[in-house]
Amino acid sequence: MKTRITELFGIEHPIIQGGMHFVGLAEMASAVSNAGGLGIITGLTQGTPEKLENEINRCKEMTEKPFGINMTFLPSLNPPDYAGLFKVIVDSGVKVVETAGNNPQEWLPMLKEADIKVIHKCTSVRHSLKAESIGCDAVSVDGFECGGHPGEDDVPNFILLPRAAEELSIPFVASGGMANARSLVAALAMGADGINMGTRFIATKEAPVHENVKQALVGASELDTRLIMRPLRNTERVLTNAAVERLVEKEKRMGEDLKFEDIMGEVAGVYPRVMQDGEMDVGAWSCGMVAGLIHDIPTVQELIDQIMAEAEEIIQGRLGHVLSA
Ligand SMILES: Cc1cc2nc3c(=O)[nH]c(=O)nc-3n(C[C@H](O)[C@H](O)[C@H](O)COP(=O)(O)O)c2cc1C
Repeated sequence: MKTRITELFGIEHPIIQGGMHFVGLAEMASAVSNAGGLGIITGLTQGTPEKLENEINRCKEMTEKPFGINMTFLPSLNPPDYAGLFKVIVDSGVKVVETAGNNPQEWLPMLKEADIKVIHKCTSVRHSLKAESIGCDAVSVDGFECGGHPGEDDVPNFILLPRAAEELSIPFVASGGMANARSLVAALAMGADGINMGTRFIATKEAPVHENVKQALVGASELDTRLIMRPLRNTERVLTNAAVERLVEKEKRMGEDLKFEDIMGEVAGVYPRVMQDGEMDVGAWSCGMVAGLIHDIPTVQELIDQIMAEAEEIIQGRLGHVLSA
């Protein structure tokens, strides 16, 4: 399959693994790149330029194929050393950066100078158009279904993707709710040039997370995610658990009076304890509604091969027959 995204990034299949805190390590990114997709290391999980450089070097030892780095801009009391992290990325020779969370404009000149392609993750058409206007090469259009931060507009991908197709000139991938061949073919039909998957890639053999996390995804249905932090205008879709139910109850009770400090216990420092130690009730972690479509834990290669083979079957078989019927 050849699309504007496979051409832009020099990859075999139009499938990207979105940056994921404490999941997007070298093991994850290299497995996706080796299987012909685009793997992404999550920059902020490393946190310092030295650690990021080390992770990039580890990934280079595990794959010869292209991979990218996610840089997420978050409101923070102690912001990470973004300048140092971007310098490491440029010096490393990596050719793709996925940005998210805020406008990446400040960093584009240095990335362009180094011939690095930038794909910006957006949850609305207006942010996608902004990304296009400041010179991003592509957009990841993240619908309301997505795991992580869906924004505050609540537009699902059945509307968001064709709206993006109406307005954008640069290529975009469909993100949020993508799991299988049906997702890929539907995304292409709606004007996207490929798909970005987060949650689905966590339930793979190579994902460097505790077995409990993978089993939780296989066991979850599409009804098991919750939206948290809406009163703070920092909405996040997470898998429900005891801590999340406590948090949601607190949000209901406190309404607009809720402050970040009130929910620190349920959201701060949670990721390593969930992803590495498998403590499933310790706090809130991002998860998409797509959990309902996850029924197994294949290798990344098996997952991507199956998506590509079945997508071809759908396009040439089922859809072809619809036309000739
Ligand atoms: C556990 C987890 C952690 C994530 N962490 C980040 C992150 O640090 N930065 C980011 O830009 N997106 C993050 N995301 C969002 C994904 O990159 C991707 O956009 C999203 O998962 C797509 O929706 P899906 O889960 O339905 O596939 C995360 C998602 C998950 C599930």
